[in-house]
Amino acid sequence: MARLNLPEATRFEKVPVSIYVDQETASLAVANRIADLIRDRQANDRQAVLGLATGATPIRVYEELVRLHREEGLSFRNVVTFNLDEYYPMQPDAAQSYVAFMNAKLFDHVDIDRDNIHIPDGTIPVEDIHEYCRTYEQKIVAHGGIDLQLLGIGRTGHIGFNEPGSAPDSETRLVTLNDVTRSDAARDFGGKENVPTQAITMGIGTIFKARVIILMAWSAKKAEIVKKAVEGEMSAEVPATFLQLSDNVEFVLDQDAATALTRFDNP
Ligand code: PGA
Repeated sequence: MARLNLPEATRFEKVPVSIYVDQETASLAVANRIADLIRDRQANDRQAVLGLATGATPIRVYEELVRLHREEGLSFRNVVTFNLDEYYPMQPDAAQSYVAFMNAKLFDHVDIDRDNIHIPDGTIPVEDIHEYCRTYEQKIVAHGGIDLQLLGIGRTGHIGFNEPGSAPDSETRLVTLNDVTRSDAARDFGGKENVPTQAITMGIGTIFKARVIILMAWSAKKAEIVKKAVEGEMSAEVPATFLQLSDNVEFVLDQDAATALTRFDNP
């Protein structure tokens, strides 16, 4: 394994990649980085601004943050959060909403101030969305920007719901979901026909402004898209490749998600 971290072995990789033995170990490492940030800010009487993601990928990170709160006294009183995205339209009390997800996985179990939680609102009338999205961007700026942004990656290469075709300088906006993305969400909605066709998402440009960006990916299902994001030519066809432009990004993978990288595939 050590040999595979040498510059020669990783020369195809255009972003920093950290590979952990498994999802558990990787998730704990990410949770500890978040906890360190929160405590560091507390020590200086400052807020920590987190950009948060939904989906299967970050669940274990959130579980560990809840454990750190319950068992080790980690407080979220100084934490401000901005979630990446929400389906549109979507009622916040619907089981599939990202509001429900975040409450169940994290917010209901920690001492965060509800006023500090921001998740794109899936109930905004369509004619008001543009203004709503501008305000979402302004709120991030008003809080001093995002300190640490968590990301997953979809099989289309999307980050947030920035599907293929998204521009690198895109901002928070209403988007149309890719067919693959809707198929991947079908189980949550009891059939693809029930998956909303649109979403509100932070843009790639919004994500870029975060001071630290951590993209996590687990399992062999993600191996092909991870290879494209890490080694492929930058292209709107795979929006995650735009992260190659950032100096603040790190890919955190389990071994299975890393298997298609050239350093393992063609040693
Ligand atoms: P997942 O989704 O965490 O459920 O794999 C990731 C994504 O679509 O961004």
